[in-house]
Amino acid sequence: MSERLVLGSRIDGLLDRLYAQNASQDEALGSYFSARAQEESFDWNEFDARTNQFLSDKLVALDREKAEFCYYLCRALRARRVVEAGTSFGVSTLFLAAAVRDNVREDGGTGVVIGTEFEPAKAAAARANFAEAGLSEWIELREGDLRKTLVDVGGPVDFMLVDIWTPMARPALELVAPALRNGAIVICDNTTQFRDAYRDYFDFVNDPANRLRTMTLPFEGGLEFTLRED
Ligand SMILES: C[S@@+](CC[C@H](N)C(=O)[O-])C[C@H]1O[C@@H](n2cnc3c(N)ncnc32)[C@H](O)[C@@H]1O
Repeated sequence: MSERLVLGSRIDGLLDRLYAQNASQDEALGSYFSARAQEESFDWNEFDARTNQFLSDKLVALDREKAEFCYYLCRALRARRVVEAGTSFGVSTLFLAAAVRDNVREDGGTGVVIGTEFEPAKAAAARANFAEAGLSEWIELREGDLRKTLVDVGGPVDFMLVDIWTPMARPALELVAPALRNGAIVICDNTTQFRDAYRDYFDFVNDPANRLRTMTLPFEGGLEFTLRED
């Protein structure tokens, strides 16, 4: 077992608190979706208003070891320009921003994590968390639907995290793919658990025209590791 990653005194306690809050919502999430899944009309590919309302205060944060892995990948890539599809309360964003901060401290220059979130209350909570962590200067949070907010990511992208409701995964990757630099990495969560729902995402990833190579890593639920190779 590896030692827990230390990101800084203002960040680590906040992450402990956010992960505790996340864990306290697990049971409610499990009960909600097992009940709804019994309904014939329930569609995993398109959440209805009731599900969106239920999820509007849920963190659904990226597992801590997956988030730590993203930090290490960003450090290995010396990533300075990162895009995250699905920010929620900003848990994974804190890891990405800490990596960009650490890369810039060592290498100089500038860096940014572009996050996006369409629930206003979650975006407000994320901004408060970024401020508490002392990482706001590294994060540009774009509020709204990613199909609009990610149309222009403003330059080459070193790393992308896709941690979004599954129907939005392909639109997010399609928008950002033209900006991925040679050697960029895209991580996408739960690709084993929701393989069917990710079908159109994999159609895009496996299309040779998109110059991507991919493998599913054996984290819980599966974690897709995709490399841009020009
Ligand atoms: C799995 S959560 C992200 C968790 C986050 N990465 C973390 O680790 O804390 C997915 C988030 O994507 C947001 N979302 C879903 N569809 C979206 C869309 N079309 N545009 C922007 N955000 C969206 C949801 O509101 C939800 O907060």
